[in-house]
Amino acid sequence: MFSGGDEKNIFVEICRFIEYHNRAGRRKQDFAFYRNWQSKNTVVGIRGPDGIMRRPGAFQLKKAMDRSGIKILVVDDEEKIASRVSKILEREGFATECAYSGEEAIYKLGKRAYDIVLTDLNMPGKSGFDVMNYLQCEKIDTLALVLTGYASVEGAIQAIKLGAYDFIKKPIDVPTLSLIMNRAAERVVLQKENSKNLVELKKLNELKNEFLSVVSHDLRSPLSTIGGYVNFLLKKGGLGEKNEKYLLIIKDIAESLYDLVNELLDISKLETGIMQINREEADLSEIIHASINNFLLLAVDKNNDIEYLNKLDNPRVSVDRMKILQVMNNLINNAIKFTEQGKITVTVEDLDTHVSVAVADTGVGIRPEMMENLFNAYTLHQNPGTRGEKGSGLGLVICKRFVELHGGTIRVASEEGRGSSFQFTIPRS
Ligand SMILES: Nc1ncnc2c1ncn2[C@@H]1O[C@H](COP(=O)(O)OP(=O)(O)OP(=O)(O)O)[C@@H](O)[C@H]1O
Ligand SMILES: [Mg+2]
Repeated sequence: MFSGGDEKNIFVEICRFIEYHNRAGRRKQDFAFYRNWQSKNTVVGIRGPDGIMRRPGAFQLKKAMDRSGIKILVVDDEEKIASRVSKILEREGFATECAYSGEEAIYKLGKRAYDIVLTDLNMPGKSGFDVMNYLQCEKIDTLALVLTGYASVEGAIQAIKLGAYDFIKKPIDVPTLSLIMNRAAERVVLQKENSKNLVELKKLNELKNEFLSVVSHDLRSPLSTIGGYVNFLLKKGGLGEKNEKYLLIIKDIAESLYDLVNELLDISKLETGIMQINREEADLSEIIHASINNFLLLAVDKNNDIEYLNKLDNPRVSVDRMKILQVMNNLINNAIKFTEQGKITVTVEDLDTHVSVAVADTGVGIRPEMMENLFNAYTLHQNPGTRGEKGSGLGLVICKRFVELHGGTIRVASEEGRGSSFQFTIPRS
């Protein structure tokens, strides 16, 4: 019934299943297994020696892993125990080595990469704890398990607190040893796969950024050409009211697309680390005035007052003027976008080594569940403004990155229905 590669794996899994259900001791012949007719690796029912059919749910029979790639260092000052454990594990298919003291284990761990170290705790000289300490201090990525005598359960608990994955009691019970070591090996394999996936994902992300920057860069010039021709036609005039209306719509769309493409370009430059800041001596109050002036008409249109409280002793700062202006523009634009018949207050003040800039509004506020992801590029949230103004949800992501490029921080406080306040700080130099 059980022979050959996959069948052998299935047999191993079934044995484990029986163990899990405390039926060790039963022979495999005592159980009848019913598999899914579509997927033969799924056992849907097991009839035990008592004749009762049990349905373990979709009990997936996994392919047994290749244990020969997993290196285990067995450490015990009692040579007999170390070599017995090592033999059992080799029979299971693992690659093992032995060390007969804490010192030897530390030496070996420093020389070679092991996936798992299974160490006795009480040894003369360096103990199992010392071995674990060494792994931690040297940041060695080896999974530690400990062997403990019956009397030293506290030792095992302490070891687990120190980061051991599991413990095995002495005298060693072979099925338990193999169960625990297989579980540890599965974890090692998963961890290895995870790190491989992470490297792949990083590569893909880089590719995406490169693609994004090439595409957005190449979209910019045709978009500005469209804008240029539309402006030319509008200036020329004589097109009739209806056609002018259509051209204005085209102009609007081309402008917002141009803005979006610029933002995408900024994001990809920020992510690839290409974006740099060009610091210059600048007057912070001048930057803020310039930004407020950009939005005065928009504020009046929505019946909003803008107040500027300049509490700076010295407005000179060393910043990338264009980037700080962009941060201010987005914060003030947002404040107006989400406020109607209200007040926007821009406050600038000195902190010890930093300056702080806050843009507060009395607008619609932000829902609490939205707050924590406002600055996150991977969970872009955006709502239309009080008059349905659209956005991409990228503005705050860019603000955060620009502020951080200056060595500063940005945060938000908001109450739904009452308003929001965005504050950022940047070092003076
Ligand atoms: N002052 C504010 N009041 C209320 N909600 C805000 C405020 N500022 C930001 N938000 C919320 O955060 C979201 C993200 O803002 P962000 O500036 O990143 O993007 P956007 O304004 O929607 O688009 P973009 O800035 O790219 O044109 C907004 O859509 C809005 O839901
Ligand atoms: Mg915005």
